[in-house]
Amino acid sequence: MKTQLRLSSLLPLAGLVSACLREFNLSPRHTHRKPVARRNEEWPPILTEQESILVNAFDSNSIDDWSAYYGHQVKLAGLGREAAEWTRDRFSTNGFNAALNEYHVYLSYPVHQALAITYGNGTTAPVEIQEDPLPEDDVTGRPDRVPTFHGYSASGNVTAEYVYVGRGTGADFERLVELGVELEGKIALIRYGSIFRGLKVKNAQNHGMIGAVIFTDPADDGNMTVAKGVEPYPHGPARHPGSVQKGSVLFLSTYPGDPTTPGYPSVEGAPRADTSFVVPGIPSLPISYRAAQPLLRALDGHGLTAEEVNRTAWKGALEAEYRTGPAPGVRLSLDNLMREEITPIWNVIAYINGTNADETLVIGNHRDTWMIGGNGDPNSGSAILMELSRAFKKLLDAGWKPKRNIVLASWDAEEYGMIGSTEWVEEHVNWLKETAIAYLNIDVGVSGPRPGLGATPELHTIGTELMKKIIHPNFGGFNRSLFDAWQDVTSGHVEVLGSGSDFTSFLHVGISSVDISSGNGPTDPVWHYHSNYDSYHWMSTFGDPGFHLHAAMGQYLSLLAFHLLDDDVLPFDLPNYAVELRAYYEDLADEIEESGTALDISPLVAAIDAFEERAKEINDLARQAAALGDKGLIKLVNTKYRDFQRGFVSQGGLPTREFYKHVVMAPGLDTGYAAVTFPGVSEGVQYGNFSIAAEWVTRTANGILRAAEILKP
Ligand SMILES: *[C@@H]1O[C@H](CO)[C@@H](O)[C@H](O)[C@H]1NC(C)=O
Ligand SMILES: *[C@@H]1O[C@H](CO)[C@@H](O)[C@H](O)[C@H]1NC(C)=O
Ligand SMILES: *[C@@H]1O[C@H](CO)[C@@H](O)[C@H](O)[C@H]1NC(C)=O
Ligand SMILES: *[C@@H]1O[C@H](CO)[C@@H](O)[C@H](O)[C@H]1NC(C)=O
Ligand SMILES: *[C@@H]1O[C@H](CO)[C@@H](O)[C@H](O)[C@H]1NC(C)=O
Ligand SMILES: *[C@@H]1O[C@H](CO)[C@@H](O)[C@H](O)[C@H]1NC(C)=O
Ligand SMILES: *[C@@H]1O[C@H](CO)[C@@H](O)[C@H](O)[C@H]1NC(C)=O
Ligand SMILES: [Zn+2]
Repeated sequence: MKTQLRLSSLLPLAGLVSACLREFNLSPRHTHRKPVARRNEEWPPILTEQESILVNAFDSNSIDDWSAYYGHQVKLAGLGREAAEWTRDRFSTNGFNAALNEYHVYLSYPVHQALAITYGNGTTAPVEIQEDPLPEDDVTGRPDRVPTFHGYSASGNVTAEYVYVGRGTGADFERLVELGVELEGKIALIRYGSIFRGLKVKNAQNHGMIGAVIFTDPADDGNMTVAKGVEPYPHGPARHPGSVQKGSVLFLSTYPGDPTTPGYPSVEGAPRADTSFVVPGIPSLPISYRAAQPLLRALDGHGLTAEEVNRTAWKGALEAEYRTGPAPGVRLSLDNLMREEITPIWNVIAYINGTNADETLVIGNHRDTWMIGGNGDPNSGSAILMELSRAFKKLLDAGWKPKRNIVLASWDAEEYGMIGSTEWVEEHVNWLKETAIAYLNIDVGVSGPRPGLGATPELHTIGTELMKKIIHPNFGGFNRSLFDAWQDVTSGHVEVLGSGSDFTSFLHVGISSVDISSGNGPTDPVWHYHSNYDSYHWMSTFGDPGFHLHAAMGQYLSLLAFHLLDDDVLPFDLPNYAVELRAYYEDLADEIEESGTALDISPLVAAIDAFEERAKEINDLARQAAALGDKGLIKLVNTKYRDFQRGFVSQGGLPTREFYKHVVMAPGLDTGYAAVTFPGVSEGVQYGNFSIAAEWVTRTANGILRAAEILKP
């Protein structure tokens, strides 16, 4: 589900990590830490023999083949068995024990979708909701292409006046209420971006609105637009005016996974729970900017002006005033009929046992898509994962034996809400808690040339150091490493993990996690996120001609995996976790000061002090263990590294959302993608619930102390 990397001029340049559920990744507040700044000391990078085998195994021609295969299959969740079997068979060929892993999950499919506008003069006109077939791009005209719709949207046929509500954030709605704009009984016209789309629908529903239409605004494409003279896809790099962003409208920040089986696996015959608290009760549809233009125009002269509303990113780049409306007699008819089913989905799980049975590395990517293509989201990652399995085969053929268990996971139904990965984690949670050393995620492996890294703090150092070993094919000149490009793009900031891709379920049972990607920025070809135009034709013509970026990201992922599988002492940097905790603390202290609340957060300081002590001790011990080659000591250190993160998991979960259990980081309640640090405390303050905030100071401090205790030698 990852998100697109396109930034509006109003958003900071940091935060380019693309997650497939995500659209915009707002940069978190943390400003106190020193960014990673050291560039490559040696050029070209020096690799060990085994690193060379892996890196040299990546062949952009075979990655091109995998991308072409995935880019021509229907892989909508539950409809992609053929691609699952193909993936299983190739993993097997590459020496893995591979099998399909089936769950029976609740999904919804489009049956009939239509939208019409009635103008003030009484004329009714249809609004085009489907994307144009393009002769240049074979999959966009196939009879089995996937129509536009919102996954998990409610069925309904509603006609009403409509109101433009900006990006539909909680703050946008608060402002409209404050200004007295009539929302009850109206349809919401909402601009994509900033928060997860399901939360836009949730906010509209909570304000008594009866339907939602969400549109893409060309303002998010910066200068790369038709209005600024750039030729659109398929002839140029600008967005096709008719491209539509599909996607799920699950209330993601409350609960990912199959909404009918909260907390337990969706095996056939499992009891099914009520879903009303996580799926919308009102219908919604996505539309293109071309379709949105007349809808916005029809509100000109009615309701409040953009200046009166005075909210950031309110006004987009279409020719309209972006007034709120409603306009008397101007109505939308939104007709959305869905078919709901409990239906099989297929993860592919492939593994090789390591010599240490109690240490496991999981590497995952989802395979399902909203369209036949999906060559950016997520099949750039799928092609990379396939090539990675081939690279490891070469290493195995050369006599290498993994110390730790390797699991490759090709997830299904991620797009609806990380369904495949969540059900698998729920089924195997005990084994994972006993053995998982880390989870590596690649979703949108490539949608452009700008590398992004999100990770739990103990993996920042290995995650950035290994980028120095990879040659970036084409960003900012010759002879530059992936690390150089990442530095330019992010100023050296590793992202805090929120949600929007399959790392979520691992992180919230206390497993160290990494999410890597390479995205597109303001001067790159526009990536058609969740549109039929995210296709093989787009990828091979604009996104990554020659598939060299795919190869570089695959090389990087394979080195990350190799070191986590093969290093005697796990390459974890615990002191950095303490540094990050302190930065999150300072952010929280600022937030509390701004809010003018008197909340005592000193227990957090004490807990972080204790954690820092333990982190230093274990770091020293790790060095000693490595220097002495002492097997017993190495095992002791690795066990603590594997387990410490479990301490951050709070029984019962965060307030109002039991699934999210990590006390240090979680997706924001009203963002869905972007992370909130110390979420229990921070959101208690944000929403004015001080008893909750106070309770969570204690619970968060206890979590940090538990993690510290686990690290204690
Ligand atoms: C009604 O208004 C719409 C929008 O301005 C316009 O396109 C249409 O031609 C008008 N119909 C008539 C009958 O005037
Ligand atoms: C939806 O409602 C509109 C307006 O009431 C009506 O014309 C249309 O036939 C309805 N669609 C369906 C599929 O019932
Ligand atoms: C768009 O172009 C203008 C004028 O050249 C420039 O000032 C602005 O920074 C550009 N915006 C982006 C997002 O690149
Ligand atoms: C708009 O909002 C900003 C920030 O909230 C505020 O500083 C400014 O005074 C407001 N402008 C108007 C015209 O109300
Ligand atoms: C891998 O290990 C597991 C558990 O330790 C065992 O059940 C399984 O049979 C092993 N698989 C192979 C192929 O050795
Ligand atoms: C890139 O590095 C190689 C090897 O160090 C060197 O031979 C080559 O001249 C460099 N190319 C450029 C364009 O700097
Ligand atoms: C604060 O949280 C508690 C527990 O979830 C809830 O009962 C209470 O209504 C909340 N109060 C506010 C003002 O949100
Ligand atoms: Zn994705």
